Amino acid sequence: MSPTAKLLFPLVLSLLSSSVIVGAWKTFEVPHVDGQDDTPALLAVLPDYAENSTILFKKGVHYNIWTPIKFPVLKNVEVRVEGNLSYPQDMATVQAIVGSSSFPGHWFTFTGGNNVTLAGSKDPKWGWVDSYGQQWWDKREQVNRPHGWAFAKITNGVIRDMKLWKPVAWSFSTSGSKNVHAYNNRIYALSENMDKAFPFNTDGFSAGGTDLLFENNHIQNGDDCVTVGNGAKNVIFRNTFCEGGHGLSIGSLGKNGQVADVQNILIENIHITNSLYGARFKSWTGGNGLARNITWRNIKFERIRFPIYVTQNYWDQNLGPKPVVDNITNTHIEDMTFENFIGTIDDSPKYFEGTCISDPCWYYVEGATGREAIIFDLYPDTVKNIVAKRIVPVTMSLALPRVMCNSTTVTNDVGFKCQNGLFVPTRAGIF
Ligand SMILES: *[C@@H]1O[C@H](CO)[C@@H](O)[C@H](O)[C@H]1NC(C)=O
Ligand SMILES: *[C@@H]1O[C@H](CO)[C@@H](O)[C@H](O)[C@H]1NC(C)=O
Ligand SMILES: *[C@@H]1O[C@H](CO)[C@@H](O)[C@H](O)[C@H]1NC(C)=O
Ligand SMILES: *[C@@H]1O[C@H](CO)[C@@H](O)[C@H](O)[C@H]1NC(C)=O
Ligand SMILES: *[C@@H]1O[C@H](CO)[C@@H](O)[C@H](O)[C@H]1NC(C)=O
Ligand SMILES: *[C@@H]1O[C@H](CO)[C@@H](O)[C@H](O)[C@H]1NC(C)=O
Repeated sequence: MSPTAKLLFPLVLSLLSSSVIVGAWKTFEVPHVDGQDDTPALLAVLPDYAENSTILFKKGVHYNIWTPIKFPVLKNVEVRVEGNLSYPQDMATVQAIVGSSSFPGHWFTFTGGNNVTLAGSKDPKWGWVDSYGQQWWDKREQVNRPHGWAFAKITNGVIRDMKLWKPVAWSFSTSGSKNVHAYNNRIYALSENMDKAFPFNTDGFSAGGTDLLFENNHIQNGDDCVTVGNGAKNVIFRNTFCEGGHGLSIGSLGKNGQVADVQNILIENIHITNSLYGARFKSWTGGNGLARNITWRNIKFERIRFPIYVTQNYWDQNLGPKPVVDNITNTHIEDMTFENFIGTIDDSPKYFEGTCISDPCWYYVEGATGREAIIFDLYPDTVKNIVAKRIVPVTMSLALPRVMCNSTTVTNDVGFKCQNGLFVPTRAGIF
């Protein structure tokens, strides 16, 4: 070989091999036609792009997602949302679809597959998915509301840089998935009138599955910022801003006697504002199973009604009185920790949250004063090692913060004097 050929040969070889890989990878640019539903053209070709593919919603395009998209089982696929996507504006159209027997359950459904990435845009003006939620909230319409994104039964998944604008209800769900990383996502589900037109059930992330990491998300909504469901294991939710909703929740677990299994959950480094709850655990009266190794730590809270709230005794108070059960069972709790909380309790006597549409409110706690930093509503003999330490609450009225806790239900030093009374830290709560 000539010296030049010797120099070029490896280059040509590497170009060749990379062009083979490039050749195997397929990209589909989703087409758009003004005034028409863009879903059918995508659905028609999806089977051809279920492996080694990029599906691209192009920047600069306003797509009409007027019917739901259900993806086939995907393998090594990246869906990039760089254009704006819109639901139908007409509510009746959406309701008819959601109510039909062929509705896949979510407006966007990913179910099954391996190595699936759902990526939005880093451009603040593009990559928004607009669901026109405000009109639903204004009318308090709750019939046939669409769930947003199912990212279910996926092994090795990424959800990043996605941006939801006024989702009607329920944003992302990862049920049954394994090894998912969800980061840099934004959910904007605040209403123009949070008192009269509350964004009901606009949950941020429903974290079902195992080995899930949620971080650096920004969530403004009207229900749980995160809700960890039954079967969840090894879940970390961290470095996130939450505003407006119902807090950092585990559950509800154990509805209708269901056996719960939730383990190894860590929620940390959160700034949460204007929310009904901060850290919350709820399991239904009559539940079963175990929730183990659950920690909330490094939580900065502002204007929260119930910063720390644990109940094994949840029931639909707006549907009637507490059920009378003689053989009470419930979801057991083991190793639950609340650590490094600092912030303000909204103890305003006129406190009102937009989901309060019954009397008493669904979140009413008998005997509570509104100044409770911590409420442990537990059953005897079912809780092992629950502790709240380094909790620094201030009420907005500057009245002394209080707690609710029944000492017959706990067996360890819970970090404060277990009583219905003032918040008095104890040894375990200080060190
Ligand atoms: C997808 O890519 C992988 C790895 O490059 C390859 O082994 C597989 O055969 C490809 N599948 C298809 C359907 O092209
Ligand atoms: C996973 O999918 C990405 C595209 O999102 C691709 O670049 C990567 O090669 C895939 N990984 C494997 C192991 O095939
Ligand atoms: C994309 O949608 C969002 C939300 O509706 C909107 O704020 C933004 O202006 C849209 N982008 C463009 C370029 O129109
Ligand atoms: C508790 O859960 C955390 C978070 O998933 C995990 O890192 C830790 O190893 C678990 N500890 C035990 C004892 O299971
Ligand atoms: C508890 O009582 C209810 C109603 O009497 C019954 O259906 C249920 O099986 C009982 N559960 C247990 C665990 O005994
Ligand atoms: C504390 O719990 C025990 C056992 O469940 C119950 O009998 C008692 O009435 C409770 N006390 C208060 C003050 O609620």
